[in-house]
Amino acid sequence: KKVVLAYSGGLDTSVIARWLQDTYECEVVTFTADIGQGEEVEPARAKAQALGIKEIYIDDLREEFVRDFVFPMFRANTIYEGEYLLGTSIARPLITKRMIEIANQTGADAVAHGATGKGNDQVRFELGAYALKPGVKVIAPWREWDLNSREKLMAYCESHNIPVDFSSNKKKSPYSMDANLLHISYEGGILEDPWAEAEEDMWRWSVSPQQAPDTPTYIEVTFEKGDIVAIDGQPMSPATVLAKLNQIGGANGIGRLDIVENRYVGMKSRGCYETPGGTIMLKAHRAIESITLDREVAHLKDSLMPRYAEMIYNGYWWAPERKMLQVAIDESQHVVNGDVRLKLYKGAVEVVGRRSADTLFDEKIATFEDDAGAYNQKDAEGFIKLNALRMRIAAGKGRSML
Ligand code: ARG
Ligand code: SIN
Repeated sequence: KKVVLAYSGGLDTSVIARWLQDTYECEVVTFTADIGQGEEVEPARAKAQALGIKEIYIDDLREEFVRDFVFPMFRANTIYEGEYLLGTSIARPLITKRMIEIANQTGADAVAHGATGKGNDQVRFELGAYALKPGVKVIAPWREWDLNSREKLMAYCESHNIPVDFSSNKKKSPYSMDANLLHISYEGGILEDPWAEAEEDMWRWSVSPQQAPDTPTYIEVTFEKGDIVAIDGQPMSPATVLAKLNQIGGANGIGRLDIVENRYVGMKSRGCYETPGGTIMLKAHRAIESITLDREVAHLKDSLMPRYAEMIYNGYWWAPERKMLQVAIDESQHVVNGDVRLKLYKGAVEVVGRRSADTLFDEKIATFEDDAGAYNQKDAEGFIKLNALRMRIAAGKGRSML
C-alpha cells in the first residue's frame, strides 16, 4: 500500500506523513509544489527524508499554474460572489492533477491531503482526484484523527519523534493562510468576528493605500488571445507577468479584499485576500475586451461567468461542464489582442487607454461631429418604434403602467 501526500513541509502535513505511516502502515510518497507561495520548497526534501520518506517529489509548477489555470480563468473575468478572485480555488486542480500523476507513476492507490473537514479545499482535492483516477482511495486525516488542537499536534510530534524544528514556527501567524502566485489568503483568528477589522500588520503583499506613493504609476500591458504577454513592451512568461504585476500592484496598495463568502459545505466564512496582480489583470482584460468583443458575445460571457466561478469555487475544474464552458470562452478570445494603459494610484486601478488591431470601435460612426453619412440617424426612428410596439399595444389595451 502506497499513498501520495500533498506535503508542504510544515507542521500539519509533517504530522500527517508520520500518522499515515503509523495508522495505515503504508509507504508515503510526498509531493511538494512551488506554485509561487513565496517559500522555499527545497527544505521539504530534508524534512521528508527525516520522516523516513523514500520517494520525494518537488516540482516547480509556477508556469503551468499561471498558463493553464490562472490565465484560462481570467479569460472569463471570473469572480465569485462579486468579489473573490479565486486564488486558492484555482490552485487546487493543479495540485490534484500532479498528485494523481505521481500516484500513477509510483503505483500508489491512495492520496492524502491536509485540508480540514469544514472547508472547500477537501472538496476540490477529492472531486478532482476521483475525476482523474476513479478507483483512488482518499485519506483526509483531519476528518479521522482527534488531533484537533495545536497542543495535541505538538504532543504528537514529541511522542512520535518528529524533529522539533518542524514545529518551531518562530513567527507562527495567528491566521490560516494560503499563498500562491495569484493571491495570499487569511482566515481564522480575529477574522472569525466579521465586525473586527483586520490589523494592518496582517497584510503581507501590499502596502496600505494610505502608505502608497503620492504619484501614480503608469503601466502598459499587451494581450494576445486574452492573455497578457508583455508589460511595458517587454515580452514575459505567464508566471513572470503575474509576479511583476503583483509587485507593482502591491507597491500601490492594490488588491486588498475583506469579505464574508459562502463555502460550498454550507457555512459562511470571513476571509481577507491580497490579489494585486489579479486585480490589475481583471481590469485590463475587461478593457481590451471592451473594444474587441462583439456586444452579444461579451454579454453572453458575462451571463455565464457566475456559473463558471461557482464551478471553480466548488471544485468542479475537472468536470465536463467546466471544460465545455472553457471551450466557449477560449473561442471568444481569438480577437482579444492589443494594449491597455493603466494608472495605479493608492489602491485604485484606472484604465486610461486601450488600442487594438482587432478593435470594433469605429470613430467615424461613434463621433458626435459630422460623420459624413456613416450612420443614418433616421434608421433609429423605426428601430425604436418596433421595439416599442409591444408596449404600445399593451398600453392601447388598457395595460398602461401608470
Ligand atoms: N476561502 C477561500 C477558498 O475557499 C480560501 C481558502 C484558503 N485555504 C486554506 N487552506 N487556507 O478558496
Ligand atoms: C481548510 O478547511 O482546510 C481550509 C479552508 C477551506 O478549505 O475552505
